[in-house]
Amino acid sequence: MPSADVIIPDELVRLVSRHVPDPGMPTGADWLDRLPALASAVLQEWDLELDGPPRHGYSALVLPVRSPRGRAVAKIVWPHTEGRDEHRALQLWNGRSAVRLLAADPARWAMLLERLDADRTLEQEAAGSALGELTATEDLGVLITALDRSAPPWADTLSDHLRELRTDLDVALAPASNAVAFPRRMLEEARALASDLLTDNGLDARLTHTDLHHGNVLWRPDPGEWVAIDASVLAAEPGWAFQPVLLNTWPALERATNLRQAVRRRLETLADVTGVDLDRARALAHLRLVRDALWELEAAEVDRMQVTRLVTVAKALAGR
Ligand SMILES: Nc1ncnc2c1ncn2[C@@H]1O[C@H](COP(=O)(O)OP(=O)(O)O)[C@@H](O)[C@H]1O
Ligand SMILES: [Mg+2]
Repeated sequence: MPSADVIIPDELVRLVSRHVPDPGMPTGADWLDRLPALASAVLQEWDLELDGPPRHGYSALVLPVRSPRGRAVAKIVWPHTEGRDEHRALQLWNGRSAVRLLAADPARWAMLLERLDADRTLEQEAAGSALGELTATEDLGVLITALDRSAPPWADTLSDHLRELRTDLDVALAPASNAVAFPRRMLEEARALASDLLTDNGLDARLTHTDLHHGNVLWRPDPGEWVAIDASVLAAEPGWAFQPVLLNTWPALERATNLRQAVRRRLETLADVTGVDLDRARALAHLRLVRDALWELEAAEVDRMQVTRLVTVAKALAGR
């Protein structure tokens, strides 16, 4: 298959170019240069034929394909630390509540996946009505529980992650930091929470999908169920998975008459469905919101709107 057949969406180019690569990973520009050749190699390796327009998210090209085993998609990921173990996690879940892995080529950061209905996501469900919004949150809670299992030894740990975050917070709290736009109290609170959590031995016990938001849940037509895609994983605990649910489908939140209430209702629903302690869930979510805002402030081109969203949700969760 000649590489010219693979069209790389402009929006993917824009998204990948604006992020700073993780340490030891290729820059977005380098990866984009190699992407057409990578895609052809993957199509050849697995004997695939393109079968529709490409899709993408923030960090991957997804090609609908026909494979010898039927309709599938080939996903080629821009290498980043959080995406490193996606194929291993999918293997563990073995198609239960998560997309089925058909083949993996870790050297190329490529996977062949079962084809799901990409036009039906929990995003639309949530945006449709107040009932849809509630049901989508419940569905996400059910998935968090269904994907929960003992953490495998290969997964990065929440403890390591929190230790790094504590260092980042120290930097942000230093006088000359670029986090000035940030409410200082929020940073201090996050630092104290991280230290508190680090005294807990059970912190790394469970395999956790850390990017389980509405857009990363697609419909599996047969037998008819929601399943998770785009697995970033951490050895953590189920409450660590809540934050993307609180933040995503922003238009649905913005339309709510009371955003604070809408965010809190999502948190309470998730805690209820999963059995996670509400205060614990709030603390973990707060930490992730602050962390994401710090990361966003480090981007080559800062998305101020995203920082505002993160701080808004953090404020909505704060207090009683
Ligand atoms: N198994 C699949 N079946 C059909 N479409 C998929 C599948 N996996 C991903 N997609 C499509 O590709 C998009 C990006 O995939 P995703 O795994 O979320 O990557 P990213 O890390 O870039 O967000 C999804 O939002 C969806 O539209
Ligand atoms: Mg995605």
